Amino acid sequence: METRYLAIPLALLLACSSERPVTSASRAFEDSLASPVPKAAAPRLANYAMVVSAHPEASKVGTLVLQRGGNAYDAAVAVQFALAVVLPVAGNVGGGGFLLYHDRNGSAGSLDFRETAPAGATRDMYLDKQGNLVPGLSTAGPLAVGTPGTVAGMATLHKQMGRLSWPSLLQPAVALATKGFRLTEKEAAGLNRTRADFTKYNPGSSPAYLRPGGGDWKAGDTLRLPELGRTLARVRDQGRAGFYQGETARLLLAEMKRGGGLVSQKDLDGYQPKWREPLRGRYRDYEVITMPPPSSGGVALLQMLQMLEPIDLAQLGYHTPLAVHYITEAERRVYADRATYLGDPDFGAVPVQKLLDLDYNRQRAGTMRTKGRATASADVAAGKGLPGYESNETTHYSIVDALGNAVSCTTTLNGAYGSKVVVPGAGFLLNNEMDDFSAKAGVPNAYGLVGGSANAIAPGKRMLSSMTPTILTRNGKVALVTGTPGGSTIITSVLQSIIGIVDYGLNAQQVVAAPRLHHQWLPDLLDVEAGALLPAAQDSLRARGYRLNPRQPWGRLDIIHIRPEGTLEGGADPRGDDTALGY
Ligand code: DON
Repeated sequence: METRYLAIPLALLLACSSERPVTSASRAFEDSLASPVPKAAAPRLANYAMVVSAHPEASKVGTLVLQRGGNAYDAAVAVQFALAVVLPVAGNVGGGGFLLYHDRNGSAGSLDFRETAPAGATRDMYLDKQGNLVPGLSTAGPLAVGTPGTVAGMATLHKQMGRLSWPSLLQPAVALATKGFRLTEKEAAGLNRTRADFTKYNPGSSPAYLRPGGGDWKAGDTLRLPELGRTLARVRDQGRAGFYQGETARLLLAEMKRGGGLVSQKDLDGYQPKWREPLRGRYRDYEVITMPPPSSGGVALLQMLQMLEPIDLAQLGYHTPLAVHYITEAERRVYADRATYLGDPDFGAVPVQKLLDLDYNRQRAGTMRTKGRATASADVAAGKGLPGYESNETTHYSIVDALGNAVSCTTTLNGAYGSKVVVPGAGFLLNNEMDDFSAKAGVPNAYGLVGGSANAIAPGKRMLSSMTPTILTRNGKVALVTGTPGGSTIITSVLQSIIGIVDYGLNAQQVVAAPRLHHQWLPDLLDVEAGALLPAAQDSLRARGYRLNPRQPWGRLDIIHIRPEGTLEGGADPRGDDTALGY
């Protein structure tokens, strides 16, 4: 059985490049790049079904599930657990995420399997006696850990929407962990960079992520994760209980006790994933379906699209100063709203309807300067008159099956390798998601994001997220499945993927490869990836009052574009090991 999962009939995984008509907008895009788009910009094409994920092994596992008659939801479960093995930096069973779907009959839904604050958590738990944030407490070690949601989320998804048997979807991950898999260069480098932290946060144990015998991992080394394999086998055999009860829970709680973490058996028993009604908006000829709170991403994305719709971006040109100006000004405004109004909707009222009111957003866009000068972020506050809220590693996969079901899922441990804590005996990494709360009002978290009471810590509450799994439909049919990791940059990367397809007519691979821009209100900086702006555009933006911040590449957009004739076009981000496979 295991070998069947591991031997992929490659002949069936058709991948070919496409000749796409060069439109003036896509030529403007080519012309505007100061340096070539990384990696060949040829999209993967498939006729029926496709998986795009952050690792080739996970994409293979997902594609095989689809070929064996599984639907997109089955493939999502198998990909999620495969990523927990082959992508330790972000794939997880000890974290959480959001999954958005659009089924072949036209209905859509979202599953929130976000972590929650343990019952023992308190608002000021990361502050010292003087009320100052204690550095590092919310970002690493057992106290940074929220109650994991992934296994419960996948069990719920499978129970309600899956077709194949649960054990058959877990077995590929069990096999990968037990037999081992080849490290890619990027993952080897990531593990090597984290070696000191693995040692520091796992005293008294030797996690399998440390190379046996010491020294550096190299690309091609085999990483075996036998303890994780046994945990996954318990989940395979017992479902949700294989994680939240019994041996796995016992090992997790022992680690919490040893390291002073807060997650208790009561937290594990009480964890509930939630089905939530997705948010819906329109952008040009498309319906945009996206994640509601406790994600801030969907609200912010729809606000930005409302602000940008009246602007003819294609006419302005790709990454020209004026186009960048309008996009940045929209970003600045919605991140200000995010900081004030967004939080867990189960713990207070988030004024979603008001925030998505067209008049409200057009009014806010009305303060953008038409001559293209930057507004100082200091002069931009959250919108007024709304009812107040009372009371960098992640991964994304996109899947479309042959029936027409689509899944967009972003899942995370939060930081790279989460809290760095590997549960002794159980072999899985725990998240550091507690840092996504606003540990102190106005003090930036790891992504520079500020917040206030709406996102204050409270027992059982979900920390605000930027994860923005999104699906666009056209005439009721799925047209784009998109999403990415990247902390605070997620929302603007998803925006750029939509604009790239809808306004600029790029193909899926061009969209994900294109160097990106990002602004999040505070700090008042326009982050610029190498090659995103021509020198003349940079000068022009500086003259308009923008402060440019050259930044290392961010995000891993993994998208599927369904072309009007029905062909699936995959875009796998060349910044990582991301892979699009289809048939
Ligand atoms: O939920 C969030 O917004 C963050 N925990 C996501 C973190 C992330 O994307 C890191 N990736 N680079």
